[in-house]
Amino acid sequence: MSHPILSAKNIKKRFTHPTPIEVLSQIDLDILPGDSVAIMGRSGEGKSTLLQILGTLDTPTEGTLQLLGKSALKGTDNLRNRHIGFVFQQFNLLEDFTALENVMMPARIGRKDFSQAKQKALEMLELVGLKERAHHFAKQLSGGEKQRVSIARAFFNDPDIILADEPTGNLDKATAEAIHTLLLNFAHDQNKALLLVTHDPELARLCKKQYTLSGGCLTSSL
Ligand SMILES: Nc1ncnc2c1ncn2[C@@H]1O[C@H](COP(=O)(O)OP(=O)(O)OP(=O)(O)O)[C@@H](O)[C@H]1O
Ligand SMILES: [Mg+2]
Repeated sequence: MSHPILSAKNIKKRFTHPTPIEVLSQIDLDILPGDSVAIMGRSGEGKSTLLQILGTLDTPTEGTLQLLGKSALKGTDNLRNRHIGFVFQQFNLLEDFTALENVMMPARIGRKDFSQAKQKALEMLELVGLKERAHHFAKQLSGGEKQRVSIARAFFNDPDIILADEPTGNLDKATAEAIHTLLLNFAHDQNKALLLVTHDPELARLCKKQYTLSGGCLTSSL
């Protein structure tokens, strides 16, 4: 049996301000090579919070997280940059940087060769149908274009897992389907992994595993 790419055990998350809430009560999740996992659930149930924790961008109140067999809770910026591609619900682009510069941002952090990184970033933009917008500032892009830049950025560093928060929520059906194929092929054909949050049951069905987040717990669904 293959080892999990990401393994979360007994994850809990409580917020204390302005009012105490327990958003995540008990999350146990193993994501294996080749897995594609859809997480559904109503607004406010904690899907983005869970994704942020799995992506080591936030720390859980309790529980453990392993990324490729290594503890990934604190001080793991380097581990995250090398192994995780993250597509944020709000894109998180730097508005005064171009599409190309945004996609290359992980290379700045990882100090990669510039011309090689630029070439790779252009390829990633082409993959999401945005090569001709490479030199637009993020603030000059449409919502759907920004979303696709954020997807190109997630692919840029050849991650082992992509965590994507409603990655095609801003796209028309045809563009969304092309992006779904990209994301699913990444997991299925390259033996990597995809975890996405979606409100789209059709997209969830294309994933190998489906869960609903409700009351702070994941249950297998569909
Ligand atoms: N930093 C924070 N401090 C306090 N409460 C928070 C914080 N972040 C999120 N919450 C609360 O936790 C709950 C879960 O938020 P989260 O963004 O994870 O929901 P979600 O399932 O992604 O919702 P949506 O489908 O609307 O994106 C919400 O009720 C939110 O108000
Ligand atoms: Mg959310």
